[in-house]
Amino acid sequence: MTGRLFLFTLFILSGSLTCYGFRICAFNVQSFGDSKSANAIIMNSVSRIVARCDICLLQEVRDQKNKAIPRLLDAVNRLNNNDYDYVASVRLGRTQAYQEQYVFVYSRGRSLDKPFSCAAILGTQKIAKEFVLIPQHTTPSNATKEIDELYDVFVDVRKRWKIENVMFLGDFNAACGYVAKKNRKNIRLFTDPSFIWLIQDKVDTTVKQSTDCAYDRIVVHGEPFLKTIEPFSAQPFNFPKEFHLTEAQALEVSDHYPIEVVLKTQKSGFFTRGNKVSCLQPTLFVLNVLLLLQMII
Ligand SMILES: *[C@@H]1O[C@H](CO)[C@@H](O)[C@H](O)[C@H]1NC(C)=O
Repeated sequence: MTGRLFLFTLFILSGSLTCYGFRICAFNVQSFGDSKSANAIIMNSVSRIVARCDICLLQEVRDQKNKAIPRLLDAVNRLNNNDYDYVASVRLGRTQAYQEQYVFVYSRGRSLDKPFSCAAILGTQKIAKEFVLIPQHTTPSNATKEIDELYDVFVDVRKRWKIENVMFLGDFNAACGYVAKKNRKNIRLFTDPSFIWLIQDKVDTTVKQSTDCAYDRIVVHGEPFLKTIEPFSAQPFNFPKEFHLTEAQALEVSDHYPIEVVLKTQKSGFFTRGNKVSCLQPTLFVLNVLLLLQMII
């Protein structure tokens, strides 16, 4: 999606609080703007999809009139006691005619806005307490190149924030005709084994029954971070099935399934094995909109 790579990332720090599974989602809402958000039937599905998540990355937000996101937030907050807020990137795209935004909608109760400087205070905890979410929606025809360049983004983020725990998420178009198997060797996120692809190639993230492609992906770096991930939790959310929609009804919502992953919690066992009980509960959000033009282009 981005010609010039504006890096729009979400930086999350966590404290040790009582907590439960923390669900991170990414959803390509396919041209989400005024007309879609004015449709109550579509919004019913979109808001329920978002409200299942503690943080949900939305892609293909095309909201020229600035109406769609406020409407969505209202709908999600009606389901959830006004708990949700959002951060949005600037409009991005190679041409003026086609621009889209990344938007993170997140639960305030589970992720509090705090200044970034709190990182130092939390820095003594043992487990992955900080991680960075990096959204990516690739241009289909340039997917191999754009996914490969996420490696440079990673290198920059690691240097900038001294952090290993990074999650890339979004519609990478990383399957079928757009990323051929033979081109994988050109993608450092594939060839470097320290990046773990949580959504496998055989997974279908498309709504159409006639397509079967793992376009949407979650890729994680950082041993401590990986250990906090609930095994086998990374998957598409089959909303047509869950919401009893026909294929045609589902396609009104989007041609993609949302994807998701759950971070482990105290109750699910992992954190009780160590000496000190602690769990991953993001308590801080810092939105970073970075310009990495000089590096990426
Ligand atoms: C493909 O992606 C790379 C990396 O983001 C970018 O430098 C290049 O301009 C893109 N090419 C096209 C034709 O969009």
